[in-house]
Amino acid sequence: MILPVIMAGGTGSRLWPMSRELYPKQFLRLYGEQSMLQETVTRLNGLRVSEPLVICNEQHRFLVAEQLRQINRLSNNIILEPAGRNTAPAITLAALSAIANGDDPLLLVLAADHVIENPAAFHQAVENAIPYAEQGKLVTFGIVPTGPETGYGYIQRGTELSGTAASVFRVQRFVEKPDLATALQYLECGEYYWNSGMFLFRAKRFLEEIAKFRADILEICLQAIEASEPDAQQDFIRIDKTAFLACPDESVDYAVMEKTSDAIVVPLDAGWSDVGSWSALWEVNNKNPQGNALTGDVFTHNASNCYINTDEKLVAAIGVENLVIVNTKDAVLVIDKSQVQDVKKVVEFLKANG
Ligand code: GDD
Ligand code: MG
Repeated sequence: MILPVIMAGGTGSRLWPMSRELYPKQFLRLYGEQSMLQETVTRLNGLRVSEPLVICNEQHRFLVAEQLRQINRLSNNIILEPAGRNTAPAITLAALSAIANGDDPLLLVLAADHVIENPAAFHQAVENAIPYAEQGKLVTFGIVPTGPETGYGYIQRGTELSGTAASVFRVQRFVEKPDLATALQYLECGEYYWNSGMFLFRAKRFLEEIAKFRADILEICLQAIEASEPDAQQDFIRIDKTAFLACPDESVDYAVMEKTSDAIVVPLDAGWSDVGSWSALWEVNNKNPQGNALTGDVFTHNASNCYINTDEKLVAAIGVENLVIVNTKDAVLVIDKSQVQDVKKVVEFLKANG
């Protein structure tokens, strides 16, 4: 059995001002017909998997349940975290809950905020990964890089594994978010993939690795899930706050994937993008002949390669290039497309200044 685990607890702060604490990007319709969470669930159609488990922040419980209902999915398998502690604790909680009734399913760990243009290729990659995950490997899906992105983790491939028709490699090295110079080297070398942040492994196998490398995280997650309460309707598992707040904040990449010697990489060529930034969203969107991706009421003249998105009010842009302009009810962002990673600074400023 494969249990999809959808991580939907991020803040998406690089997509401010559309993505907000109360309404982060995974719940927005930024690309395609549905919200990113709904797209993630729908994309599983055609794969033999059970109903997904969603793990998210407690404050988004109704949003998640409602979005699942909208696409006619069961909304009774949701783990609620009292606070985000990043992906290592989230996956640990999901794995612990998955084995609670004696099962040991394969977990297909997915982020709720990715665009995949070719679901069939994604399905094929999952199929290619299954025999390895069944043998106890921790599979990551590797994307052939198209630029020196510094917002992604990189995977250097090692020797090729034989046994199946598909190309599958040992992981030689895993490097989370390198600097630009390093990313450029990786691109030139040709042996590196982007870490898609999607994984396939057995629940118990993952727990063995987290026990080996981060026993502290496992210990706290065990306490937090033991003390957790199902709500009256049994739709949500509410993780115990007192126990979980003591959990270190750590990504699965640092906690396990960089350290394990059992990681393998399955290449994925499926038009994948983590729409982690406004420039990534510009990349995946349809553009007019001037290279502008425009959403809402927008007028342009002599403008090129811009991303402009307005919720309300007409936005007019003249004689500009490579700009991102995002207009919402209460905030306007104007930023050079090459500096979109720094949107985080606004969010930090707003946090610090109330
Ligand atoms: N439940 C839960 N709790 N989910 C979380 C939490 C948390 O505390 N933190 C993040 N997530 C979810 C996010 O909503 C997203 O779907 C996914 O986990 C990944 O988190 P991001 O915060 O978006 O990570 P990232 O984009 O900076 O980096 C990761 O993904 C990249 C590809 O998208 C890493 O795995 C990189 O190596 C990778 O390249
Ligand atoms: Mg991301």
